[in-house]
Amino acid sequence: MNANAQIPPAVLGPQPAGLGRRAALAAGKAEGPAAPHAASVTNLNVRFGAAHVLKDVIMAVPAGTVVGLVGESGSGKSTLGKTLVGINKPASGEITIGGEDFTRMHGKRRRQMRREVQYIPQDPYSSLSPRRTTGQTLAEALDPHGANPMEHREVIAAALERVKLDPSAAEKYPHEFSGGQRQRIAIARALMLEPRLVIADEITSALDVSVQADIIRLLQGMRGKVDSAMLFISHNLAVVQQVCDEVMVMYQGRIVEQGLIESVYRNPQHDYTKKLLASVPGSPAFTLD
Ligand SMILES: Nc1ncnc2c1ncn2[C@@H]1O[C@H](COP(=O)(O)OP(=O)(O)OP(=O)(O)O)[C@@H](O)[C@H]1O
Ligand SMILES: [Mg+2]
Repeated sequence: MNANAQIPPAVLGPQPAGLGRRAALAAGKAEGPAAPHAASVTNLNVRFGAAHVLKDVIMAVPAGTVVGLVGESGSGKSTLGKTLVGINKPASGEITIGGEDFTRMHGKRRRQMRREVQYIPQDPYSSLSPRRTTGQTLAEALDPHGANPMEHREVIAAALERVKLDPSAAEKYPHEFSGGQRQRIAIARALMLEPRLVIADEITSALDVSVQADIIRLLQGMRGKVDSAMLFISHNLAVVQQVCDEVMVMYQGRIVEQGLIESVYRNPQHDYTKKLLASVPGSPAFTLD
C-alpha cells in the first residue's frame, strides 16, 4: 500500500499561517499567502539496528497550529518527536524546520536550530536538575555559557507568568513543586526560547486528572498568544480534541491519516483510526463540541 495515499493533499503543500487556520479551513477559506510549515517531513526513515521504526513518514505541522499525534504504544510517536529535535538520526528522508533543511544542517546553524525546536518530555522531573533553582534552569536555557538568573530576571518572570506561576518560583528547587507545576516550568522553558516548534511528548499523562485539566486549560489559554507551533503527542483522543487544531495518526511507523480534528474524528479513513475511535468510551457517540 502507498503509505501516503491516506494523507489529504492539503497536508502536503504550504499552508497559511496563524491559529485562525482551523476556522478558515473549516469554512473552506484556507487559501491565501503561503507560509512555511513550522516543520515538515518527507519520506523519513529511522532504524534502530534491524528495527525499521519510522517508515517513509510524510507529515507537516503548519505554522501557528497545534497538531496532535496519536497512535498505539510502540508505533513510533516519540521516535518521530526526537528525530525532529535531532536526538535520533534518520536513515533517510528530509526534515525542514521553518522551511530550512534540517537534515543537511551542520555546525553552528544546527546548534542554533536546537533552540528552535524544543522537546518537552513526559516526566519533567528528569529534565529539571534537582540542584538548580527554577531561575538557574531558565537562565541556563537562555544563555548556556553565562547563566546568571539576575541578568535575565525580567524575561524569567515573564516566562513564569505565561504559565501562571509566581515570579517567586524562580528561587525554588524542583522538589518544592508539584508534578503539574514542574510541567509548567518545562513548558515555560520551552516557550521562553521562542521556538518555531514545541514537541510535547505525553506531557499530561503522568499527571493526575485534575492537574491534567489544569495544564490543558493552560495550553488552551495560550493558543493564539504564542507564535510557536506544537506537536502534541498523546494517547488521549479527548485531550487531543481539547488542545489541537489537527490530528495525525501513526500506525506501525507510518502516518496513516492527518486532518482537522472534526473531519478525522467524524469521518476516519484508515482502519486503525476507525478502531482507535471505536475504543473510546461512549463511541460511536464520541461527542464533538
Ligand atoms: N533508542 C532506541 N533504540 C532502540 N529501539 C528504540 C529506541 N527508541 C525507540 N525504539 C523502538 O522503536 C519503537 C517505537 O518506539 P517509540 O518510543 O517511538 O513509540 P511510541 O509510539 O512513542 O510509544 P508509547 O506510546 O509507548 O510512548 C519501539 O519498538 C521501541 O522499542
Ligand atoms: Mg512515546
